Amino acid sequence: MKPQRSQFRAIRGVRDILPPESALWNRVEQTAHDVFATYNFQEIRLPIFEETELFARSIGADTDVVSKEMYTFEDHALPGLEKDREELMAADIQDPDSLVNFSGDLNVLVHRLKREQADGELDEENENRVEKLAELASRINFDGLIRGLPQTFDDLYNAFWEAKRLVENIDLGKRLTLRPEATASVCRAYIEHGMHTLPGDVKLYYMGPMFRRERPQKGRYRQFYQIGAEVLGQSDSPAIDAEVIEMLMAYLDRLGLSGATLYVNSIGCKECRPAYVAKLREELLKVKDQLGADSQRRIETNPLRVLDSKLEHEQAIIERLPRISDHLCAACREHFAELQAQLKLRSIEYKINWRLVRGLDYYTRTTFEITAPGLGSQNAICGGGRYDGLVELLGGPPTKGIGFAIGTDRLVLALQEAGKGESASHIDVFVAWLGGAESPVYAAAVKLARQLREEGFVVELPPEEMKLKKSLGLADKLGARYALIIGEDEIASGSFVLKRLADSEQRKLSESELLNYLKSDENRKVAAAQRQS
Ligand code: HAM
Repeated sequence: MKPQRSQFRAIRGVRDILPPESALWNRVEQTAHDVFATYNFQEIRLPIFEETELFARSIGADTDVVSKEMYTFEDHALPGLEKDREELMAADIQDPDSLVNFSGDLNVLVHRLKREQADGELDEENENRVEKLAELASRINFDGLIRGLPQTFDDLYNAFWEAKRLVENIDLGKRLTLRPEATASVCRAYIEHGMHTLPGDVKLYYMGPMFRRERPQKGRYRQFYQIGAEVLGQSDSPAIDAEVIEMLMAYLDRLGLSGATLYVNSIGCKECRPAYVAKLREELLKVKDQLGADSQRRIETNPLRVLDSKLEHEQAIIERLPRISDHLCAACREHFAELQAQLKLRSIEYKINWRLVRGLDYYTRTTFEITAPGLGSQNAICGGGRYDGLVELLGGPPTKGIGFAIGTDRLVLALQEAGKGESASHIDVFVAWLGGAESPVYAAAVKLARQLREEGFVVELPPEEMKLKKSLGLADKLGARYALIIGEDEIASGSFVLKRLADSEQRKLSESELLNYLKSDENRKVAAAQRQS
């Protein structure tokens, strides 16, 4: 017998977030709720998957994210339909080989569709298409034509085009994609729910998993998490950009992250950017053979992305390329200058990085990024920018937009690097009870544990009796602050022994004294300080 696979493991690029690190994640997320609320942002909860086309149109078909990193699937019971369809649609009636393949592929498709039909998976419209396709497939017999069977070329020709049309229209469901980011979804929701009619700017934030099929490494995962915020509305005032950035910095500050650097740039608008891109392409073509394969390809697909290159030998070349700041139109130049004035007004330190172009196509004007020390090459903990026009591109009313997304995984790593990763155990009281499970001691321990928990203390109550020494040893290993000792004597006398584990100081307290003692401010402070450490 074949040995069974002994263990399942999380798949590549995906990981478990375990305690005590999960406590830090909770703090990071809770602080976002707290800080963002003070800027009047409200939470939006979005679906994990959307139509593929939503991301393709927003992020851009030529971007790395859309062209190679998305997890896409067909949402119906006929896997591979899209590939079959693509092949059939690419057939060329002028090419005999192609026509022979077409006939074979069509028969296979009809066969598969009939199976779906038998399983009751097709609606009436698709059933009619399949019936018609089956009939057409029998007429598209190129071999027959060659061998002079009674089939005219006209008939073959008509059947070919009719079949193509039907294949194109078969609709078993949509192509869906696990979201690689959430800005597109926020815009989709904004349009779908008519949020442009709401008073004032719409200020939303979200948090949750995103999916990109990137090469995993430290700080780069295939399922990663983002905390993001977006402002949608009629105004593109740089004060909005600055306030969004202020909120972001206030958030990082509240978490205690130090050493983060904010980079800002303006990448122009649809008035001025095309001319700059053309100029950049022209200059890049002159140095094409000195560039790596990726940059060479990007000269055609997206020259701006060449500026993002980390390749050592390209750096000197890139430094000599024309800069967007010299090619901004008057309106964009003014917008960028005002953004900087607004940042200064808020005492926010920043650096200008003219090469900050971002990897998604929807940006206009302001772009920004935050890096943190200690993360190696994946040191961008946040990216964002303005995306005026995206809502319109998705079929909504003219709308301005700006936002950011923090990579939560990287932020957590950065906090740990900075020594701000909370991990201390939280147990306040370990109840060391002595007596059988049927004894009144256990009943008293259960009651006391519940009372303490109602007061907000973290209590560990062992399910089985333990020897006192073992109990105290476990309490110590778990990092509990106190052990509460309850035995028959304590029940009889109505007072309990509370032992502080750090210095073994013991005190005898009645039930009410115990609650008061633990609730006393001083103890709260000690507990809070211990949690922070
Ligand atoms: P992004 O730059 O693609 O922008 O991602 C934002 C952040 O997500 C990055 O700075 C990084 O911290 C984190 N991140 C991205 N990919 C990964 C990965 N594979 N593993 C771990 N972390 C990752 C956006 O997603 C835009 N939607 C941001 C935005 C919102 N712009 C305007 N509004």
